[in-house]
Amino acid sequence: MKLRGIDFRHALNASGARNFFGDGWKQTRLVDLFGGWNGSTFVAKTTTMEARMEPERGLGNMRLDPVTLQPVDWFPDCIWFDFWRAITLNAVGLSGPGASALLARNLWQQRTKPFFISFMSVAPTCEERLAELSTFVVLLQLEMWRFCAKFGLQTNISCPNVGLDPRELIPEAHSALDIAAVLGIPLVIKISVEADPQDAANIASHPQCDALCVGNTVKFGRLPERIDWVGLFGTADPAKSPLAKYGGGGLSGPPLFPVLCEWLWQYRQIDQTTPISACGGIFRARDALWLFENRGVNAVELGTVATLRPWRVQRIIHAVNRYFTEKEEEC
Ligand SMILES: Cc1cc2nc3c(=O)[nH]c(=O)nc-3n(C[C@H](O)[C@H](O)[C@H](O)COP(=O)(O)O)c2cc1C
Repeated sequence: MKLRGIDFRHALNASGARNFFGDGWKQTRLVDLFGGWNGSTFVAKTTTMEARMEPERGLGNMRLDPVTLQPVDWFPDCIWFDFWRAITLNAVGLSGPGASALLARNLWQQRTKPFFISFMSVAPTCEERLAELSTFVVLLQLEMWRFCAKFGLQTNISCPNVGLDPRELIPEAHSALDIAAVLGIPLVIKISVEADPQDAANIASHPQCDALCVGNTVKFGRLPERIDWVGLFGTADPAKSPLAKYGGGGLSGPPLFPVLCEWLWQYRQIDQTTPISACGGIFRARDALWLFENRGVNAVELGTVATLRPWRVQRIIHAVNRYFTEKEEEC
């Protein structure tokens, strides 16, 4: 996926899968034994402007070590998974030390290959959220000269675990793109499959929108006509979710894949040209290749497959890279 002349390749990790700087999570080291993320592009975990490291005050639900940024607990109670069915619910709620603290570590600046930073504004009102983004953009502008590699910004407007309804953030995307435009870097908006494809096409029509990333986790109980919550959890009621105490959490894993495919089909009826990075339940090489062949996506992002089927990650990346090499050779 080339955006503004920068090659972000065609296999990426989903934001959140490799922590803020690519070192991953202590619980998911297994992926390194199977070849790690070689051949893919790094997408950082979403940061917010302010720190979210105080679960007791409702600011981020995962306790992180302030030095290593690793989870304090081996099994954080804001993440629930079923290994056999490969499904995950999470309500991490964008835990993190905040943008200034991350930039101060000078680690993104030292990366040598193209990558994405991910940001989400989480203030309660639209005005405050746009102000938060403006502050972040200024901060990034001041630091940009230090960056060794080209990078893009993935603006996340779809996290369902920060007390905001992703559907209500859609109308703000144009203003967010106006604000981030001064950076002059590739801008990607990460939306949910809950977004109306027409609204998504409207976002994509903004001259500064380089690509869409679709989608994020789906909040427990949402899209009941497409996700069999009762079959998966015995209920579609967030108050009875394994993560009920965090409002239900958001679903990741294979049940998202058909929803993603259907969404992309509808989207491509409206807009055939905007680059799309597809994310949600991609658990096999054939899922990824099918999306390239049948839905015209430009990249795929791998999320919970890295935790629940770590031995598949390198195989998927390899298959994606081979697919594009062969295509180039044909040309
Ligand atoms: C524990 C966890 C943390 C996540 N953190 C983020 C995040 O920081 N930013 C983001 O945009 N998405 C985040 N996600 C969502 C993933 O990037 C991805 O969109 C979602 O898991 C669906 O893809 P999958 O089914 O391949 O896992 C997170 C998901 C999980 C399970």
